[in-house]
Amino acid sequence: MQRFSNKVALITGSAGGIGKAAAQRIAQEGGAVFCVDLNEAAVQATVAEITQAGGDATAYACDVSDESSVQACIEACVAKYGAIYALVNMAGILRFDDTCALHSTDWQRVIDINLTGTMYLCRAALPHLIESQGSIVNAASTAALSGLPCGLAYSASKGGVLAMTRSIAVEYAKRGVRANCICPGDIKTDMAKGIAFPDSMDWDLMPRIQSISGPKGAETVAGVIAMLASEDGVHITGEDIRVDGGTLS
Ligand SMILES: NC(=O)c1ccc[n+]([C@@H]2O[C@H](COP(=O)([O-])OP(=O)(O)OC[C@H]3O[C@@H](n4cnc5c(N)ncnc54)[C@H](O)[C@@H]3O)[C@@H](O)[C@H]2O)c1
Repeated sequence: MQRFSNKVALITGSAGGIGKAAAQRIAQEGGAVFCVDLNEAAVQATVAEITQAGGDATAYACDVSDESSVQACIEACVAKYGAIYALVNMAGILRFDDTCALHSTDWQRVIDINLTGTMYLCRAALPHLIESQGSIVNAASTAALSGLPCGLAYSASKGGVLAMTRSIAVEYAKRGVRANCICPGDIKTDMAKGIAFPDSMDWDLMPRIQSISGPKGAETVAGVIAMLASEDGVHITGEDIRVDGGTLS
């Protein structure tokens, strides 16, 4: 399949995990990928892997929670490739805190990266997406759909991403831009490996967080992202697709 021939995708969080898998998948399907991450060395490694495999990729270091850096990032992508057809927002962080012990700075950091950063990218890319008649794929989570004990900031950020994505979908539908979310769950990435829970965590309150079919790799989400961002998703907008192996089924 070459669904992204002559198309450009900007993918945040592409130093690792789902963002990296999405960049690899879109590049395999013929797209040029502009890979964005806070982790400069790791995003350069992503780009090196893609170019060694014959793909067209560019690395760009950017903190998505920094408004002016995001604006510069969008401009750099357009300067390099002349367009943006797909915006894939995968940059994110996860933390668990006892709600009464949650520091405002920790709350703010999660909201700044997961929600406000996603908004900065969408806002700056939308004029280019209107030109290309392209689309957005944002990372929500099963945490946007089901209560997550000790996940106050993360759940709020992902619920915000879901609601924001639907708003964009409706506001821009007539102008030819689509916006969708993926809601992953139980995907084996560094984020999943790095989870630390507070001592007060009551496991009886935890909804099932393991998928029925067992954890899966980031490539299982990348295929869904590529479908949504491609012409195959042309009649899908304002949608959220769970990729969680039945966790919330
Ligand atoms: N892995 C899962 O099971 C799962 C479940 C639900 C939702 N998600 C969401 O999917 C997305 C990707 O998750 P993942 O599992 O691949 O995580 P990951 O930790 O493997 O990758 C996240 C990437 O985001 C980058 N990043 C973090 N803060 C950044 C910032 N301020 N600016 C730019 N880049 C930044 C990191 O450097 C990293 O490369 C996240 O938004 C996450 O919340 C993942």
